[in-house]
Amino acid sequence: MTNQLSAAEAKRLVAEAKKAREQAYTPYSHFQVGAALLLPDGSVVRGCNVENVSYGLCICAERVAVVTAVASGHREFSALGVITASSPPAAPCGMCRQMLAEFASDLPIVLANMQGEVEQINLRDLLPHAFSARDLV
Ligand code: THU
Repeated sequence: MTNQLSAAEAKRLVAEAKKAREQAYTPYSHFQVGAALLLPDGSVVRGCNVENVSYGLCICAERVAVVTAVASGHREFSALGVITASSPPAAPCGMCRQMLAEFASDLPIVLANMQGEVEQINLRDLLPHAFSARDLV
């Protein structure tokens, strides 16, 4: 069994991710992404995607949220919310999945879009057989 979010928790994370998305810097793709990480103390850390004219430097909203949380002293995450304009709602890219797995293998994720569609999934299902510290033998 994997962790699940309550409807109220999911709604809150979607609202937080939507606020985060307002800060997205996307002059090249025009694809705005907002992410919200729920911490065990109930607080939320937001992230948005930040692009660069040197395209390879673009960073995803999810990884911005992770590094912001870690830089603030938080290494445990309870849930993640992600919002885009995609239908169906888009899931985190592979690089973000691996980054999230570093800190939370059993992470409930709520995926949403601006049209009001919402889905729940778990990081375990998005990234089975994640590379982990156990593999470093
Ligand atoms: N992007 C994210 O923010 N998260 C993902 O999981 C996938 C892609 C961003 C990166 C880039 O700024 C834009 O979406 C288009 O790829």
